[in-house]
Amino acid sequence: MNAENPSSPAPSTPRLRTALDTFPPYIPGKPPRQVDGLRSFKLSSNENFLPPLPAVLEAMVAHATDPAHYPDDAALTLREGLADRLGVGNDELAVTTGASELLVALTQITSDASTAAIYPWPSFEMYPQTTGLAGSARIEVPLTADGRHDLPAMARAITDRTSLIILCSPNNPTGPVLTDAEVRAFLDEVPDHVLVALDEAYWEFATDPDRVRGLELVKDHPNLVLLRTFSKAHGLAGLRVGYAVAHPQVITGLLKAVIPFGVTDLSQAAAVESLKHWDEVLERARLIAATRDDFAQALREQGWDVPEAQANFVWLPLGEKSSAFEDACVEQAVAVRNLGVGVRISIGEDEALDRVLDIAQTFRAEHFG
Ligand SMILES: Cc1ncc(COP(=O)(O)O)c(C=O)c1O
Repeated sequence: MNAENPSSPAPSTPRLRTALDTFPPYIPGKPPRQVDGLRSFKLSSNENFLPPLPAVLEAMVAHATDPAHYPDDAALTLREGLADRLGVGNDELAVTTGASELLVALTQITSDASTAAIYPWPSFEMYPQTTGLAGSARIEVPLTADGRHDLPAMARAITDRTSLIILCSPNNPTGPVLTDAEVRAFLDEVPDHVLVALDEAYWEFATDPDRVRGLELVKDHPNLVLLRTFSKAHGLAGLRVGYAVAHPQVITGLLKAVIPFGVTDLSQAAAVESLKHWDEVLERARLIAATRDDFAQALREQGWDVPEAQANFVWLPLGEKSSAFEDACVEQAVAVRNLGVGVRISIGEDEALDRVLDIAQTFRAEHFG
């Protein structure tokens, strides 16, 4: 019904795909509330809280001069830098607008209404979005009680329809890594024609000596693709640069599905410069990992059941108390990520983490005391 002229028919709405009704929209981490007298902290998006490396900022400024031209679509300098660092060939790399674009492209090249995708749950919220958008059946395999992938159950879920399996190590939002041995055993059970995406967005923060080593695995498995990003350890989330490592045949397929000229010249230059400071980037990731370990330990000492934390965040499996905990943080000018079944807290400055520890202690006394 047209409100201004009740006699005219209602304007017809465009017919959108029914697949859109099968998954929720992506909900980004909220900004913190401003509270008088308190510095506010955003611990809701797993961003890097450390200041950017000065040389990276300089590279960005130097490359902010030529917006009239398209960037290098092949991202050749960046791929050469990555190839050098990672010991792979240029043809085994694709550079995209964040690992997010890779997830979309990977789904595009594997999935449609006739196929099924398997992934752990809870895990990264883009998995249901991108596979759901493709119209693919979605098999969400529940994590174990300690927040880890249930790989035997994932292997049992494989059928003739399976075209894509996503693994996430360390897992967002719960934190544990997959071990090298368990992924090798899992891959032995996956048929060669099924593409396995190992999402390593947080690999630089993982310190568990048994953690999966994607780069070594990908050499032996033509159906494996690694997803990585400059958003987390490199602290370049705002510039949108991610990359895939896989066999050339998979890369060629992926490149057909990515948006041309997606990664700007400025973003490529920043990523190239950041790669030149690789040791510093890894050292900063280790510092964040040490802070994470202390923070997780302090929460455990308060009595919280914190799963193994291997990325730049810690998970509190709060169940139905998740919203109450989020609200307690909001009141103290801290934004955390409430995922309904638990709350994810990104590692930030000491002042932010100390405040969360105080909130957590009071919350325990009030709700579990
Ligand atoms: C597990 C995981 N994969 C992929 C991404 C996407 O990262 P980006 O698109 O910023 O590279 C994220 C971002 O939070 C993530 O947590």
